[in-house]
Amino acid sequence: MKPSGIVVLLSGSGSNFQAILDASKESSFPQEFSAVISNNPIAKGLLRASDAGIPAIILDHRAYQDRESYDAALAKLIHRFNPKLVVLAGFMRILTTDFVKQFEGRMINIHPALLPKYKGLNTHQRAIDSGDTHHGATVHFVTPELDDGPNILQAGLTINENDTADTLATRVLELEHKIYPMVVDWYMNDRVKMFENQCYLDQYLLPESGYELNDENEYTDNDY
Ligand code: GRF
Repeated sequence: MKPSGIVVLLSGSGSNFQAILDASKESSFPQEFSAVISNNPIAKGLLRASDAGIPAIILDHRAYQDRESYDAALAKLIHRFNPKLVVLAGFMRILTTDFVKQFEGRMINIHPALLPKYKGLNTHQRAIDSGDTHHGATVHFVTPELDDGPNILQAGLTINENDTADTLATRVLELEHKIYPMVVDWYMNDRVKMFENQCYLDQYLLPESGYELNDENEYTDNDY
């Protein structure tokens, strides 16, 4: 059977999942969400899923001996839904290469920094500490190296003098809620693809930064 629908993996609040869900509901072709899976039994994102009538599944990593056995169980669970797309939405786990390979080209992630800058954690403080004036969020395909797959879309903001890691977290999250639904929509409508570790939008090769929105962080068809 042809893969269809979306499986979301999350560990926490799930505000990005909610943004994708809300945007999908407003679209004329709402997406099918097959399941939301969390390694954290008390993730708020699970409640958001059950409120929306989407299967909310707990797969607690603490019940597994090691990363390999957890990832094998997780892969098996995801395969049951045969999804077209796997969306990592704040899934706070380092993934094994074997797991990633099974979903390469159909698994995406959002990261709170302008990748390749600031892979990993504490991205906002690191941007401030480095004296950056520009910061933002990136949606990218997932490859085995952490936060390293080809970028699909970035949105940026200017760091103000009085910004702290907390204010930046809030401001960047707002951008995330805008760009993640866009990329999910592109992917589900076969507009975006990964090929030989590069990213194509409507068959145009995207720059390494991914698609860059205009100064107002708006998408325009004429930009590429
Ligand atoms: C976001 O900051 C995202 O960039 C990172 O994890 C956080 C998830 O937030 N990968 P939420 O659970 O979607 O609210």
